[in-house]
Amino acid sequence: MKTLILFSTRDGQTREIAAYLASELKELGVYADVVNLNRTPDIEWDNYERVVIGASIRYGHFHPALASFVKKHLQQLNALPSAFYSVNLVARKPEKSSPQTNSYTRKFLLSSPWQPDQCAVFAGALRYPHYRWYDRLMIQLIMKMTGGETDPTREVVYTDWQHVASFAREIAQLKCKSTD
Ligand SMILES: Cc1cc2nc3c(=O)[nH]c(=O)nc-3n(C[C@H](O)[C@H](O)[C@H](O)COP(=O)(O)O)c2cc1C
Repeated sequence: MKTLILFSTRDGQTREIAAYLASELKELGVYADVVNLNRTPDIEWDNYERVVIGASIRYGHFHPALASFVKKHLQQLNALPSAFYSVNLVARKPEKSSPQTNSYTRKFLLSSPWQPDQCAVFAGALRYPHYRWYDRLMIQLIMKMTGGETDPTREVVYTDWQHVASFAREIAQLKCKSTD
């Protein structure tokens, strides 16, 4: 039995975190499949003993595919030990990097019919050269307002990989849910 890691990404950072989690889990003897949630995958749920979903924020929202996936697979998600991680730039600030203090994550957990057993918030990446002009301008504006990087030639990865590794250890310890 394997672990299923689903990611919802726009620019790739959430996929990188999923791949890192998978490699850390492998070190712990836990094998994982990494699958793109935005591509409405068919899942062979019987192959998996736990599930992880990661999703990024753009303009204040997760990709709509996240809510659709949760709705469609709610029964399986609630039956398996599970974990969720969110990825955004607000989380580069320590005081906004826990599930309770990161507003996107808190709102998701409050409204989601799926309640993961573990949750983490990771700071994402800022990749100005890859953005379209409008997005670059908007992100520059937000960064200026929040005291962040504004140089449009820069790429900055804020993800704390040690934090990702410790989340992998928490995932590896998730135990089977009782069917009593
Ligand atoms: C157009 C755009 C809008 C974004 N909006 C937000 C936002 O509202 N709040 C936030 O904290 N981060 C925001 N971000 C930052 C992303 O969440 C961050 O870059 C993350 O690493 C993206 O993950 P992904 O590459 O998996 O999509 C935005 C980034 C872009 C490019």
